[in-house]
Amino acid sequence: MPPECPKAAPWTEADLLAALTAPDAEALFTRAHALRLQTKGNAVFLRGLVELSSICARDCLYCGMRRSNLNAHRYAMDDDEILACASLAQQLDFGTVVLQAGECPQLWTRERVAELVRRIKGETGQRVTLSLGERSEADTAAWRAAGADRYLLRFETSDRALFTHIHPGAETTPGGEHPRLAQLRRMKAQGYEIGSGVMVGLPGQTLRSVARDLLLFRELALDMVGLGPYIPHPETPLGREATPSEVPATVDFTCRCYALARLLLPHANIPSTTALSTIDPVHGRERGLTSGANVFMPNLTPANRREGYLIYPGKICVRAPEADSLSALHALFAKLGLRHVSA
Ligand code: 5AD
Repeated sequence: MPPECPKAAPWTEADLLAALTAPDAEALFTRAHALRLQTKGNAVFLRGLVELSSICARDCLYCGMRRSNLNAHRYAMDDDEILACASLAQQLDFGTVVLQAGECPQLWTRERVAELVRRIKGETGQRVTLSLGERSEADTAAWRAAGADRYLLRFETSDRALFTHIHPGAETTPGGEHPRLAQLRRMKAQGYEIGSGVMVGLPGQTLRSVARDLLLFRELALDMVGLGPYIPHPETPLGREATPSEVPATVDFTCRCYALARLLLPHANIPSTTALSTIDPVHGRERGLTSGANVFMPNLTPANRREGYLIYPGKICVRAPEADSLSALHALFAKLGLRHVSA
């Protein structure tokens, strides 16, 4: 466990709302970056993202990979192809691979994922983060036993009505708890480092609910916070909806959330996300990495597969994977006084 000091800021919902809407956030970004230097030094952790498959059984209203999008290109990588991505992460000295896929338990069975985790750990020594959606306690227990270190499952929004609206068929839990929170708590008890997060700027989302999202990060004692702007996808119901959002899906607002997440969870790992780089390919990374974020997740999905994993349009590095090139990243880190540390 990290030392108790520095402590999480005792923010209230009203404090957070004020910080989210203040006319200027420069002081907030500076404070969050200083805290990140205190808790993480000048290290940036790189996590190699491997997008295993675009086949998805869910029909989330915002996601381009939703089952009903008949125009989406579907693919699934085989185990050797996945192992090759993990070897690349090893060669590049990343330290961690993130295995993410559309939800499809038939494809990503308990046994297959456990075997993949064992092979990756045994053959490449990389740590393994799983991001395979909503799964049973028995599945995540088996994967933990096989050596999986971390699990990412965004709760997307703490607003229950909005969550239910954008996730058709979402499980109803006894007591009405947010369906993904139960899984996050279970996985924490199983010994995973847990990551969660939200999209900002969803139609119908309120500023107050984002303040509550941030408080929930602290309440869950998240080890990782992944958060990005919502990007409308024209081939989804939400992408075609005109409902406005009180929440701006901007670089400034996303970075305010990184900064507040840092102040609420001083030791958390917070990536500057692909969605942020997508809305500002020139300055997004830099803005993220100077407002509290300390992780970057280069995409290691083979170039010929990337076009299939379009959760939102314009996703960077789909047409030009070299935009994600390591030399450009290292140059940026040097400019910011940061350095890559394998972890
Ligand atoms: N815009 C931004 N982020 C999205 N995600 C899914 N669809 C979109 C979109 N249209 C995010 C969700 C999911 C993660 C893998 O991608 O937060 O958890």
